[in-house]
Amino acid sequence: MAVRPEEQLPPAEDLGVQVVPMRRRHLRSVLQIEAQVYPRPWTLGLFLSELNLHAARSYFVARAEGRVVGYGGLMFSLEDAHITTLAVDPRWQRRKLGQRLMVVLAREAVRRGAKNLTLEVRVSNGPAQGLYRRFGLAPAGIRKGYYVESGEDAIVMWAHGIDDEAYSDRLRRLWADIPGPTLVEHPR
Ligand SMILES: CC(C)(COP(=O)(O)OP(=O)(O)OC[C@H]1O[C@@H](n2cnc3c(N)ncnc32)[C@H](O)[C@@H]1OP(=O)(O)O)[C@@H](O)C(=O)NCCC(=O)NCCS
Repeated sequence: MAVRPEEQLPPAEDLGVQVVPMRRRHLRSVLQIEAQVYPRPWTLGLFLSELNLHAARSYFVARAEGRVVGYGGLMFSLEDAHITTLAVDPRWQRRKLGQRLMVVLAREAVRRGAKNLTLEVRVSNGPAQGLYRRFGLAPAGIRKGYYVESGEDAIVMWAHGIDDEAYSDRLRRLWADIPGPTLVEHPR
């Protein structure tokens, strides 16, 4: 399919977004996005091994106009759900795709019994930190030199009590803030 320049992409309310569990057939597109947004992209082998760990992982992709435009994943450990990755194709950013994926990930975390949500984010990544703050994730510490390719520090963020009704209300508000319909398919 030909790639359209950004200015021809439809507005957020007309995207017809689907969020579905990540499958092997999505990985070609996922890797293309990965290479554009991360200085040290995950490999095919790493994604495949993550997808094989069904009992302790949940990965989703966002699709629009028949293509994969973003993805995100969770790793479960006792009561904690750890966001392992979140990315949106640069041409499709600022259309609430990251927010859609985050709502789906947070709901999935609650569905699978997690009480806390956590992640690491680069100290320089203001856009992602802005998105995460909306989800109640607050800075709790610094991991020095966490990103080996650049030596950059990571901020560790946590949201506690995600199984509370107040957090579900927050997710409902964030979902209501997203323009247009989004179809969500949950893992079986
Ligand atoms: C972070 C990322 C996933 C956000 O995806 P996105 O679909 O563009 O984000 P959304 O449109 O859902 O934005 C939701 C909110 O996040 C914040 N935000 C997102 N991108 C932003 C930017 N470039 N500048 C400032 N705020 C931003 C805003 O608060 C925004 O709300 P608004 O549009 O009402 O202002 C995307 O920028 C990305 O893939 N970045 C590269 C990979 C990455 O850094 N991933 C996170 C690793 S921890």
